[in-house]
Amino acid sequence: MRISRNFIDELIERIDIVDLIDSYISLRKAGRNYTALCPFHNEKTPSFSVSPEKQFYYCFGCGASGTSISFLMKYAGLSFVEAVHELASRAGLEVVYEQGMAPSSITAFEDLYKILQQAAQYYRQQLRQSPTAISYLKQRGLTGEIARDFGIGYAPAGWQNLLKNLGNDAETEKRLITTGLVKEHKSGRHYDRFRDRVMFPILDQRGRVIAFGGRILSKSEHEPKYLNSPETPLFQKSRQLYGWYFARQVRPLQTIIIVEGYMDVVALAQYGIHNAVATLGTATTRDHLKYLFRSVSEIIFCFDGDRAGLQAAWRALETALPFLHEGRQVRFILLPQGYDPDSLVRKEGKQAFNNRLTRAIPLSKFLFDGLMRQVDMSSLDGRARLVELAKPLLKKLPTGLYRDLMLQELSELTHVDLKKLTILIQSEIPQKAVIKPKPFRPVESLIDLSLVDQAIFYLLHKPDLYQLVEYPNKKLSSLKKPNIKLLLNLIEFIRMNPKLTLGAICEHWRGTDDEQIINQLASLITENLNDINIDDNFRGAIEKLYKEDKSQRWAELIEKRTRKNLSNITDN
Ligand code: UTP
Ligand code: MN
Repeated sequence: MRISRNFIDELIERIDIVDLIDSYISLRKAGRNYTALCPFHNEKTPSFSVSPEKQFYYCFGCGASGTSISFLMKYAGLSFVEAVHELASRAGLEVVYEQGMAPSSITAFEDLYKILQQAAQYYRQQLRQSPTAISYLKQRGLTGEIARDFGIGYAPAGWQNLLKNLGNDAETEKRLITTGLVKEHKSGRHYDRFRDRVMFPILDQRGRVIAFGGRILSKSEHEPKYLNSPETPLFQKSRQLYGWYFARQVRPLQTIIIVEGYMDVVALAQYGIHNAVATLGTATTRDHLKYLFRSVSEIIFCFDGDRAGLQAAWRALETALPFLHEGRQVRFILLPQGYDPDSLVRKEGKQAFNNRLTRAIPLSKFLFDGLMRQVDMSSLDGRARLVELAKPLLKKLPTGLYRDLMLQELSELTHVDLKKLTILIQSEIPQKAVIKPKPFRPVESLIDLSLVDQAIFYLLHKPDLYQLVEYPNKKLSSLKKPNIKLLLNLIEFIRMNPKLTLGAICEHWRGTDDEQIINQLASLITENLNDINIDDNFRGAIEKLYKEDKSQRWAELIEKRTRKNLSNITDN
């Protein structure tokens, strides 16, 4: 069964591509369009652009482009049908199929959120009934209140609890598997991933449960201490932070503290420090920082004071360097040996912990102290070595005041002339990321397109142009040129649906023979499209086509006559 085309048209109209994409990566307004760092390739300056007028996105860097539906398919790895369902649920629409009912095997995001929500509720209810789990949390110092605030629950022992309690019909089972709550054994049997664990629901920025972390109650050699949900369509570890939903509600929010564990976030909150988040068993990623720096100007990393903690801090430093524009700050706290934020705040209390936050080491100091420990600063060789060690790090800083100050600091430490250092840091051209063919073309290159393709291109980017083509139009229909049928169909389609955007038009051609050519011409974006006189160019192309049509008719006529004459001659 196919999703109705009219429904897709309506869907594209109802969903604003800017809202949609902004809910995943935050967009900035730039003129008529919105820009961001491209989510589909690594880059330092934004070349990703979203057009509300066209309901279409482009990346000048990697060539990715498309509609709301294509974005969701690519970004979240969904199939076309899944993407349509997700968008429909965002728009509050029921997906319309060409023959009525929707096929039953489709699982939209909505259903996944629901099942996770039900699981969280089930775990909470199980916690109330488990004296062992309750006493474990009590013994860790958690109050009932904080456990409730964070929605902490308990997954009882046993293999089939979720299936038994949330429903073991095929639909529910599929959702439980997709969300990672239930695993499939080689034998084909299904079983609960989380068993006999304290459950921490992981919420997205809108407060919806998207995953879980589960801690075992007692030491075990066979089971990991913490178990997280696997990556699912809703959950990507490298983007999510535990506690962010609560932290972002702090007002005013200037600083985020990044800690390592679930219990650290919960304990800090219990002691009134609500702006802590934890990475989910991974190092802090660029995505994490990109995301956090949209909301705060300062990030404090809080690590254990042991070797592993120091290493983690250094890694965080390297990840953070490219984000340090002026006005932003990154600082570090290394805790006393044997403590984590959880145990320390319980021992020292809020005030002492806050004092540590105040005294956190700025990144600049942390960086130079760390490097100086590796060299002999009293010797000239040692200072030269410091320059060498600092070079690759400082190169990661964006150009600007912060970088200038760091260079100045390096100059003072090493007595190397600031100008020399500046040149040294800039001498090598920064490595280009991935070199990919660019879709970006100068306006002149439109001339490389056939007249028909040019006309299609202009129409796609400014559908109103259809008015310039006389109606009814019998011309061109017999012109023998590639894509001429497509051009005529397109004009006709826009005439019938004059309000559709580029995105909606592209969706209309999805799955047809001409899908590819439409997409190619839609994604062919020119630097200064707005500066070209599109109307005149389009009219010019159409007139030329009329002329070609005319001469083709002439040629055909002459050929016919010649043939006729010839046959007359032979007949005689
Ligand atoms: P820790 O072992 O330091 O956690 O791991 P913690 O929060 O102090 O744990 P408690 O206090 O013993 O309960 C820090 C984080 O690393 C991840 C978890 O996210 C944990 O919160 N981790 C740890 C895992 O993913 N798996 C593990 O086996 C251990
Ligand atoms: Mn701990």
